Amino acid sequence: VSKCAQICTSCAKVTPFALKGKCECGGTLLVHYDLERVRHTMTREALSTRPTTMWRYHELLPVMDLRSVISLGEGWTPLIRVPSLEKRYNLKEILIKREEQNPTGSFKSRGFSVAVSLLAERNIQKAAVPSNGNAASALAAYAAHAGIDATVIVPQDCPEYIVRECVHYGASTYIIDGMIHDAGNIIDDGTEEQGWFNVGTMREPGRAEGKKTMGLELAEQLGWSTPDVIIYPTGGGSGIVGLWKAFKELKELGLISGEMPRLVSVQEEGCHPIVTAVRTNQPVQEAEPSDEVSPTGMRVPYPPDGQLIARMIQETGGTAVAVTKQEIEAAQLEMGGYGISASPEGAATLAGLHKVAADSWLRSTDRVVLFNTSHAMKYVDWAKPFPNVPLVRSYKDVNGSVKK
Ligand SMILES: Cc1ncc(COP(=O)(O)O)c(C=O)c1O
Ligand SMILES: [Zn+2]
Repeated sequence: VSKCAQICTSCAKVTPFALKGKCECGGTLLVHYDLERVRHTMTREALSTRPTTMWRYHELLPVMDLRSVISLGEGWTPLIRVPSLEKRYNLKEILIKREEQNPTGSFKSRGFSVAVSLLAERNIQKAAVPSNGNAASALAAYAAHAGIDATVIVPQDCPEYIVRECVHYGASTYIIDGMIHDAGNIIDDGTEEQGWFNVGTMREPGRAEGKKTMGLELAEQLGWSTPDVIIYPTGGGSGIVGLWKAFKELKELGLISGEMPRLVSVQEEGCHPIVTAVRTNQPVQEAEPSDEVSPTGMRVPYPPDGQLIARMIQETGGTAVAVTKQEIEAAQLEMGGYGISASPEGAATLAGLHKVAADSWLRSTDRVVLFNTSHAMKYVDWAKPFPNVPLVRSYKDVNGSVKK
């Protein structure tokens, strides 16, 4: 018997589990577990004796044979309180989930541990990803550990440190003269000829399932309860999908009860398709990013299934806010003042907290969790010249330089 299947968020059709992200109808596929079975083994007691990695939740991850797991020690990141912020806003609790402590310096480790394990389980030898940076370095690291070839394409203005990480882990690394979806088009163009498996956002089930462990962990670390509010930086949106799914599954398993946490999505002013969709209650429209928008993981002008992300946020009673580059920079300094190394995305959640607090959107009984998705050091060399990797505009440019 299979451990899980996939269900379409659009037509509700259930299909056997496969490495695909979309239904025939175009809808996004989510993994669906036999929770009756999970209930017997994934108990609070059993969990309390398991190793502190995200694979402690293996019943809720789609890898069939645990010997296929490709792990670099991801997950079980610290959750710390910030009493000065609690006082300032008169809130019950404010906590920061320190995702920057993952093996590749960002929460992307989680998704790629699962995605690459699924490739390894099927003996797939070549993977490729279009990325704003952190997904690229995570694929590079996990693929290297698994002995799988990785090809990554990141924007030309991607921070140098991240490009160097990709090169360090041995990935075939390219910078694109364009946005993340342009990089995606190049990978689509070369997929057949190169035999790449595209592990881009929502192309396969592993990444969203891996990100789900952020929510599972949070509930367990809070003594099997839910926070009231989670503030999260959104790009492609699979972080939101993962968190939403985590709390749904835990509720169905009876491991937690009560309301879903209100999910708050944060994006940067100048490129915020999800924020616009959530606030105006309109379908997601492609954003036209201005040149001023920072090259962070939040800069995704046209997320693969923005509609689903917006719907999930709304369903939890959450909201979405855009913050300026200056607010993000100030929040980064403020995070430093709490002793925390925060990337622009991680700091954006603090800027988002200031915003929703100013809007009187929070309640004094709220327990709020900010996700610090990566660390500051990845972005220190922003303005410096790049390592010598090819600049590409089309798949032809890639094919001209690819290792055969
Ligand atoms: C550090 C960081 N935070 C947040 C995000 C956005 O996450 P998601 O794609 O799950 O919306 C990214 C994506 O690149 C990222 O690198
Ligand atoms: Zn469908």
